[in-house]
Amino acid sequence: MWFSNQIIPWYQKNLRKLPWRETKDPYKIWISEVILQQTRVDQGLPYYHNFLKAFPTIQKLAIAEENQVLKLWQGLGYYSRARNLHTTAKQITTKRNGHFPTDYHDILKLKGVGTYTAAAISSFCYGKPYPVLDGNVYRVISRVFGIYDDIDSPAGKKIFSDKLSILINVKQPGLFNQAMMEFGALQCVPGIPNCNKCIFKAQCHAYNKNVINQLPKRSKKVSIRIRYFNYMMINDNNSFFLQKRTKKDIWQNLYEPLLIESDKVLNRKEIMSTKEWMRLFSKGIVLKNASKVYCHKLTHQTIFARFWVIKSKGPVKIKELRKIKQSEIKNYPMSKLIETYIDNISVNNCLK
Ligand code: ADE
Repeated sequence: MWFSNQIIPWYQKNLRKLPWRETKDPYKIWISEVILQQTRVDQGLPYYHNFLKAFPTIQKLAIAEENQVLKLWQGLGYYSRARNLHTTAKQITTKRNGHFPTDYHDILKLKGVGTYTAAAISSFCYGKPYPVLDGNVYRVISRVFGIYDDIDSPAGKKIFSDKLSILINVKQPGLFNQAMMEFGALQCVPGIPNCNKCIFKAQCHAYNKNVINQLPKRSKKVSIRIRYFNYMMINDNNSFFLQKRTKKDIWQNLYEPLLIESDKVLNRKEIMSTKEWMRLFSKGIVLKNASKVYCHKLTHQTIFARFWVIKSKGPVKIKELRKIKQSEIKNYPMSKLIETYIDNISVNNCLK
């Protein structure tokens, strides 16, 4: 109990006033937690406000066009999370009459909801004693209690989860969970925390043994896949020709120019010799200017992308492509990479 008796008052004194802390509406909590899984609070806040302004209720989200949902997610990454939110909103609206489940195990069955989100919703909205375990919480617990188990292994995860089940304040589980996350975000930060002003200075294993930067332990090395994207820009007055990415891959259902993917950087001649090029384009169509190479980093992939302008005597006809006026481009969801490129050329008026 000593731990909870210290961390809850710390939280009450130091908490940031955040909109999802002023509601018990499971829909709003769910949206906030999915956003916060992939971004920091300050970056996530505008997304939270914009999303709830567009879809103030689960029913409004359920009837939305997928393009609009993805557009509001643009820049956050992990677009499958937005698609899952949309799918789940439709299911809750049609199958559960719009009522969010209240039981932890029912919440866990929702598409895209894992133990972390289910615990957050159950504790914040319904006062159930399920501990949340995110990166912040692993850091606090491993340091204070000197737990060296690997947070990437199932056995290690279980040790942390068992420890938290003992520590959690069963009378105020929501408050306890918020306090843990906030303490990890503000006080027990990665890198160099200010341990001098920490409430756990006397008890903290990592501080007293001088192993702060060795905890938490993790074994998984993120392997990064390198990809090369050659985009073909078809030149037409103030319009873009874009296609929808339909395959199960990054950026599914977002829009982009015609793409030829390769396993290395290709020059003009090499692109025009690929099978894809020959399938797509007839004779007399050539590549003109190339952009610089854009390096776009995702969590598990790095993409080197170059944009080529296509030169053709007549119109280029490719059935997958949709002609989109520059004034309408804002309605189409696209990756940050494509958005940045289009913004650059719009500023430079290169397409004219
Ligand atoms: N990070 C993840 N969930 C959070 C929450 N509810 N408040 C602040 N930061 C968070």
